[in-house]
Amino acid sequence: MSVTFAIFFCLFSLSNALYKQWIPDTNFENVSNWDKGRVPCANDRVYFQHDQKASVYVQSTHSIVEMYLPMDGELILAFGAGFAGSEGGSDPGCERGGDRITFQDPDRYQWYDPTLWRAASTPDDLENGRFQFSVHEESVPCEHDDVIFRPDSSFRVSTDSDVSRIPLRSVSIMEKKFSREEEFARYLQSGSGKLQFHGSGTVQVTNSRCSESSGCDCGNTANHERICAALHQHSQCPDLECLSPLTPIGHCCGICGAIVSLEYSPDFNVESYRNRLLHLFLSLPSYRGVRMAMSKVSRPQSFSDSASRRMSPEIQVVLQEEGSGSKAEALAWEIMKDIQSQGSSLGIVKGEVQTSTGSHASGQGGSVDGGMIAGAVIGVLLALVGLGSLVVLFTRGMIRVPGMSSLQFVKKDSDLDNLGDSIDKGFDNPMFDTSPHLPADLHGLYSGSEALKGISITNSGVHFVNPAYDETDFTA
Ligand SMILES: *[C@@H]1O[C@H](CO)[C@@H](O)[C@H](O)[C@H]1NC(C)=O
Repeated sequence: MSVTFAIFFCLFSLSNALYKQWIPDTNFENVSNWDKGRVPCANDRVYFQHDQKASVYVQSTHSIVEMYLPMDGELILAFGAGFAGSEGGSDPGCERGGDRITFQDPDRYQWYDPTLWRAASTPDDLENGRFQFSVHEESVPCEHDDVIFRPDSSFRVSTDSDVSRIPLRSVSIMEKKFSREEEFARYLQSGSGKLQFHGSGTVQVTNSRCSESSGCDCGNTANHERICAALHQHSQCPDLECLSPLTPIGHCCGICGAIVSLEYSPDFNVESYRNRLLHLFLSLPSYRGVRMAMSKVSRPQSFSDSASRRMSPEIQVVLQEEGSGSKAEALAWEIMKDIQSQGSSLGIVKGEVQTSTGSHASGQGGSVDGGMIAGAVIGVLLALVGLGSLVVLFTRGMIRVPGMSSLQFVKKDSDLDNLGDSIDKGFDNPMFDTSPHLPADLHGLYSGSEALKGISITNSGVHFVNPAYDETDFTA
């Protein structure tokens, strides 16, 4: 058991790529491909539009009276499949029949439609329906993903795109996996290739993995508008029950729940962190129904910088839930506590949480050995809202602040000795006396974008009670 677990980590720890499967098909036997909502019967007349381009996969044998084929198309017959002439009449299960039945226009399916893809971390998971939740931009294949068109099916997809190349790690069609660029380019020029892919973007396979342990940007931001437009053709965004819905980066709709944004160091590994959250928290019955999507995103570094378009990558953890999102929110606070206590051993420099009830806080990652800062929690937004949420935490007994007498800064590193000068006296804590020693790292926290006002609780004395662990005091 533990061996399998270890192997699992080895295999997946360096890549955050997913397998993405295209859902629609152009199969003869799929009822949704016919205008009558059923597969042609023995006494039907079967029509393909004259100018329709289609690659149609036929799985079994059909008797038909007549069939009008398009100028440019193909029928791919599975082993044992075929067509037989029929006098009409006797086709068991086909009492209706005798109609003119037309193949639906397959040109309507867009590559950048987030509803037409399923994602999973392994092909096995795809098969068994263990799909992954992701923001809309990442529902569509990302640069390092493996794309799978279902075996025993054909398809037609429009690759119209705002970028000319659509890079992918690999593409599998009818169980043949393409991972070499020239080989796939040749396939695209083949008869089937031309019927299956049309549109302005060119799909390219690169066979390249994401080589950064913190994960890679999906690469679909340039097509954000297109992705959301395709989504809205099918459905409106759901009505939400929460007070202030959040819109994650890369998503087209608001959500109820929470977003945790992480600043990371080179030690951060997105896959092990994802597994940590899955095993420590999301697998708990109390968080059933909460869906998590984790990705590397870029956002303008600050309001003043946005003119210069400087982007800084961060890890976005979206926690979404049907209904009010309160479980997702509780989970976000749990994750923040985990960051406070274990952050620096996980490679997390800073975490920030936004919730759909309107609270917002950020905290710095501490660690057991570092022992310098157990945490900093800063209410932003309105000072009142920040205060409110903290008060809630206090009354719930989630945060305990020791008396001033026990507030002592633990100096473990020599470079901490000259921190005195860098202390910004502006961070007075309205609830507590100002801590006389703030580490220099904290500066980074405040020099950032938002005017962070409110409360900061810093010092090794502050600790968080995490039910998932034994209670540990980091004052050491
Ligand atoms: C038939 O096509 C629809 C839409 O293209 C798809 O959702 C569905 O999974 C297909 N059915 C089967 C049995 O493959």
